[in-house]
Amino acid sequence: MIKAINVIANRQSLVFCKALLWAVPLLFCFYGVSHAGDAATGQLIAQKWCASCHLVGRSGRAIDAAPSFHMIANNPKYTEARLRGWLYDPHPPMPNLDLTKRQVDDIITYIGSLKQKP
Ligand code: HEC
Repeated sequence: MIKAINVIANRQSLVFCKALLWAVPLLFCFYGVSHAGDAATGQLIAQKWCASCHLVGRSGRAIDAAPSFHMIANNPKYTEARLRGWLYDPHPPMPNLDLTKRQVDDIITYIGSLKQKP
């Protein structure tokens, strides 16, 4: 009898453990989705607000003062911290576009998606 209860208890804790195994990564996924930037939105913002000065696509190099997003994505000197700092407080000749934190996240994720795969 005690053995049977133990078996049931163990089964339950196993089910619980399995549920946890699923729940924890899922939680991280949702957390990630709601807090990390969204590349598609970032691309839309870039096309709307940045493309007048920057080349925002995957290819090409800027010929004027503004670096292309492709170049920014693939040059290690543009760290995430640097991009973040710049986008919150750009200096001339780039205008301050008053981006929200979310927009900055989206743009940085979009720029990250332009990184060339090795
Ligand atoms: C009116 C033109 C203009 C617009 C619009 C513009 N930029 Fe720029 N941006 C520039 C110029 C010019 C530079 C180069 C500044 C320099 O090197 O001093 C620059 C530089 C940058 C840099 C590099 C900063 C660094 O650390 O050297 C980033 C990143 C950047 N822009 C992102 C953006 C994003 C994202 C947008 C749209 C939300 C945007 N820019 C819109 C003109 C613009």
